[in-house]
Amino acid sequence: MIKQYLLAPGPTPIPNEVVRAMDQTMIHHRTPQFSKAFAEAREELKALFGTKNDVLVLASSGTGAMEAAVANLFSPGEKVLVVNGGKFGERWMQISQAFGLEVVQLKVEWGKAVKPDVIENHLKVYPDIQGVLIQASETSTTTLHPVREIAQLTRNGPLLIVDGVTAVGVLPVPMDDWNIDVLVTGSQKALMLPPGLGFIALSDRAWGRTEKAKLPRFYLDLRLERKNQQKGSTAFTPAVSLIFGLRASLQMMREEGLERVYARHERLARATRAAATALGLRLLAPDNPSPAATGIMLPGGIDGDKLLDYFRERMGITFAEGQDQLRGKIIRIAHVGYIGAFDVLVAIGALEMALKKFGQPVKFGQGIAAAQEILMESLD
Ligand SMILES: Cc1ncc(COP(=O)(O)O)c(C=O)c1O
Repeated sequence: MIKQYLLAPGPTPIPNEVVRAMDQTMIHHRTPQFSKAFAEAREELKALFGTKNDVLVLASSGTGAMEAAVANLFSPGEKVLVVNGGKFGERWMQISQAFGLEVVQLKVEWGKAVKPDVIENHLKVYPDIQGVLIQASETSTTTLHPVREIAQLTRNGPLLIVDGVTAVGVLPVPMDDWNIDVLVTGSQKALMLPPGLGFIALSDRAWGRTEKAKLPRFYLDLRLERKNQQKGSTAFTPAVSLIFGLRASLQMMREEGLERVYARHERLARATRAAATALGLRLLAPDNPSPAATGIMLPGGIDGDKLLDYFRERMGITFAEGQDQLRGKIIRIAHVGYIGAFDVLVAIGALEMALKKFGQPVKFGQGIAAAQEILMESLD
């Protein structure tokens, strides 16, 4: 037996409390029992999103919520600015193009954050831009984009549409305070649930836009969903078991306290970065790292795919690979969701051992010690 550790940026491990909440005899969704659980979960979601408005729960992955944002807010041919600094920025492009929007692409070097003044310039050059689409945390490059600053630029202009898939529940993204118009996430990251739920919340002005938008929508018609969800129901059959899990995971987050949840993610990320640096490894995003996952550049000569196979097959540890041009060159160690200090030590211990196995001059304990110094903070 090799004990398994899931340390990739989604799906993430699921706490027993959540598993047990989902392990119930199926009930019908048009019942008071379902409506009660759903209403309770939806109320908690408002605190998580930092909004007074509805957070709609969709039976989809995170990409479904991204698609809902585009389909509900725009009309064919409208111009949007997409910040493309990784795989998920690319996804905003693909969705926008699939729906016939005119995309102005702002390419950002992988591992770097977009600079707000570059966005400001684009908004000047293209005054007819109707929406800015961005990731708060670009998971593929483990980079944070400065959405708070960008929201200052868009508050009286285009809609700011933020993919918060590895940000919501990881770091504060209070959408109302920051003037974010749309915030989306998915269930299988910080929410400690299986994949299968998408979440989306809209500002008042974004709701206004849904009335004017002319793109076709059916399953993901947010107006229809809002009408139903405000009554404790859904337009179509909901993912009943996941909703029970959602209520339990949100309760766990409330009991820990959101501030502590954010501090935990930040601490685990800092410990992981310190360990990698102590081992002489370079970080993919040293300047604006995401607290959800840490991208680590592999020393030359190491084949990342082979290393990841080794972690998984010999050590039982699943990390994530690099995508596209980073394939084979990096690994991503996640610390998002139901992850604690000792998971980081498992990750770093395994990293030291695997690097040694792959011929690197590793001094055992160097990364671990650097992580421990930081993880001690939580024991004060
Ligand atoms: C930042 C970001 N956006 C979007 C997605 C897509 O979400 P899903 O795979 O749930 O459709 C992911 C998934 O990893 C992500 O990390």
